[in-house]
Amino acid sequence: MALLEVQNVSFSYDKLNKVIKNVCLSVEEGEYIAVIGHNGSGKSTLAKLFNGLQKPDEGEVIVDGFSVHDKKSEFEIRKRVGVVFQNPDNQLVASIVEDDVAFGPENLGVPRKEIGERINFALSAVGMEKFRHATPTRLSGGQKQRIAIAGVLALKPKILVLDESTAMLDPKGRKEVLDVVNKLNKEQKVTVIAITHYMEEVIDADRVIVINDGEIALSGTPREIFAQKDVIKGYGLELPFSAYIAEKLKQKGVSLKSDILDQTELAEALCALK
Ligand SMILES: Nc1ncnc2c1ncn2[C@@H]1O[C@H](COP(=O)(O)OP(=O)(O)OP(=O)(O)O)[C@@H](O)[C@H]1O
Ligand SMILES: [Mg+2]
Repeated sequence: MALLEVQNVSFSYDKLNKVIKNVCLSVEEGEYIAVIGHNGSGKSTLAKLFNGLQKPDEGEVIVDGFSVHDKKSEFEIRKRVGVVFQNPDNQLVASIVEDDVAFGPENLGVPRKEIGERINFALSAVGMEKFRHATPTRLSGGQKQRIAIAGVLALKPKILVLDESTAMLDPKGRKEVLDVVNKLNKEQKVTVIAITHYMEEVIDADRVIVINDGEIALSGTPREIFAQKDVIKGYGLELPFSAYIAEKLKQKGVSLKSDILDQTELAEALCALK
């Protein structure tokens, strides 16, 4: 069984209008999945269904063998699926960084000695060890969001869900957060599910899932997904910048090995221009 199994899940807030419709998804340990979809398509609702914050009306969500329908599994699921939201200011609870990071493990009854180790681990994983005694409100947006991630990491989650966690950050802050998340995925094998509006954040994912009106409309590698330009535009989504460049280069008669270029390929294609 995969680490996260979403089986035929439907959900509505008002028991009338389904906002998630018969979604099926299997996520393997170590995968990096990007989720894209227009405003109101159901991405955040899906994130809440992944960690049991919302329960499916129909279907099943199983995390590492634990069902969200089983009341006794609630703790186990919360420990395994950490969700980081958009606004870091709404996620930081304490007035000192280390207390903030300790909040989650304390609530889960982790022994005192181990909490210290977890703070060290989590702050070092996000490169914020030096800010252990700092006041969160004085940090930059990127730093605050890294502390929010550390707070989730202190629970040692197997799955990190990022719900537009870079949306309120400037480019520098976005890069800081993305670098941390990539490192966690590559080095610590943390499974990542990243909901984003930034198409450039999608290019390096193992798999992209396109949500449209509560359904999985497309699923595939970034290259497979963005090759379907008109379909993507039809779902109200942008193409990554590199895909626009590729389109323009093709129009100029430059032959390319793919419609989606990574940075190296893009540089090569531009250098080949006469
Ligand atoms: N707490 C709620 N109560 C009632 N309806 C809600 C609630 N939260 C979301 N919805 C509705 O559910 C649908 C899906 O919303 P959701 O927030 O999951 O979409 P989203 O893809 O995350 O959107 P965005 O891109 O704006 O973040 C929308 O129609 C939204 O209005
Ligand atoms: Mg959302």
